[in-house]
Amino acid sequence: MKAIVQDRYGSADVLELRDIDVPVIGENDVLVRVHAAAAGPDVWHIMTGKPYMARPVLGFRRPKVPVRGWDVAGTVEAVGANITRFVPGDEVLGVAEGSFAEYAIAPADKVVRKPARLSFEQAAALPISGVTALQAVRKADVKPGQDVLVIGAAGGVGTLLVQIAKAFGGRVTGVSSTSKLDLVRSIGADDVVDYTLQDFTDGSRRWDVILDTAGRRPLRQLRRALSPKGTLVVVGGDGGGRWTGGFFRGMLRGPLVSLFVGQKLGGLNSKTTLEDLQAVADLIEAGTVTPVVDRTFQLVEAPDAIRYLAQGHPGGKVVIDVG
Ligand SMILES: NC(=O)c1ccc[n+]([C@@H]2O[C@H](COP(=O)([O-])OP(=O)(O)OC[C@H]3O[C@@H](n4cnc5c(N)ncnc54)[C@H](OP(=O)(O)O)[C@@H]3O)[C@@H](O)[C@H]2O)c1
Repeated sequence: MKAIVQDRYGSADVLELRDIDVPVIGENDVLVRVHAAAAGPDVWHIMTGKPYMARPVLGFRRPKVPVRGWDVAGTVEAVGANITRFVPGDEVLGVAEGSFAEYAIAPADKVVRKPARLSFEQAAALPISGVTALQAVRKADVKPGQDVLVIGAAGGVGTLLVQIAKAFGGRVTGVSSTSKLDLVRSIGADDVVDYTLQDFTDGSRRWDVILDTAGRRPLRQLRRALSPKGTLVVVGGDGGGRWTGGFFRGMLRGPLVSLFVGQKLGGLNSKTTLEDLQAVADLIEAGTVTPVVDRTFQLVEAPDAIRYLAQGHPGGKVVIDVG
């Protein structure tokens, strides 16, 4: 089968299209004939091996898993001996290591049925970003009528955060650059802020909840935009240094500062669970949430997809069409 493989860490130049063997399923897995995969910052991190702090998990000198890609949408080709939830031919979405390939193995508890109203490209945009957005909104405990600020509202996670925070009853303000304001409005944001024109952290306006995915603004700035009892959940924001990726801003410093102030400040480390994958798929079925696909690249163009993503300004998710 064709797959995008890397033998060493580096820029998108290390990604190569090669012919490799179809992976062999274990008894608790499903083999997915991949139709679409997604390129997100997670793929970029594994490709570059950064932050270095993650290398004990990723592999010290090269990625332990040579085929890139994680998010997957496709058709079940075969199931392991213990699997009764799926049969060959089922259309699914989920998380499979090595999804930039014609076939990928997914643990059966990381896969759910694809909502019929989604194309495979839309479905591939959903698993990691959708679960992350759902867990962030839950962690922030968004309640009806609360003012919610989503920073990075045009991104792969941000477009889903806006919609899920709305589904929880929040009044959502989306932060993006000028060219994405219409997109952010179109997915249901009540209000938008153009961060290239306006400093929304100057203290003139405050939100009950801030969901931060981009820009790496320091905690002291974000706290100025947060109500005195407000909640900040740091989801991400790339470019935070090669050793830690700025991991400590949300995960360590936030909870520490929270001990001394009325605001709750923390980070999110999302985990793809079957329950939350299904909960996100249910929001799709209900028509409450629709994933946004920015651009689609062919499998052979995966390095270009990552280069595009690395510019840092997608409008929705960057998707790989595997066929
Ligand atoms: N915590 C977790 O478990 C978890 C899980 C998944 C992802 N993440 C992290 O979450 C972050 C976002 O992921 P993603 O997939 O949404 O990334 P993405 O698709 O690349 O989107 C990032 C968005 O941020 C916007 N942006 C860039 N610079 C900005 C700035 N200075 N201020 C405000 N917005 C800015 C960009 O558009 P415009 O600049 O044009 O508006 C873009 O739409 C990444 O750091 C990723 O690693 C964390």
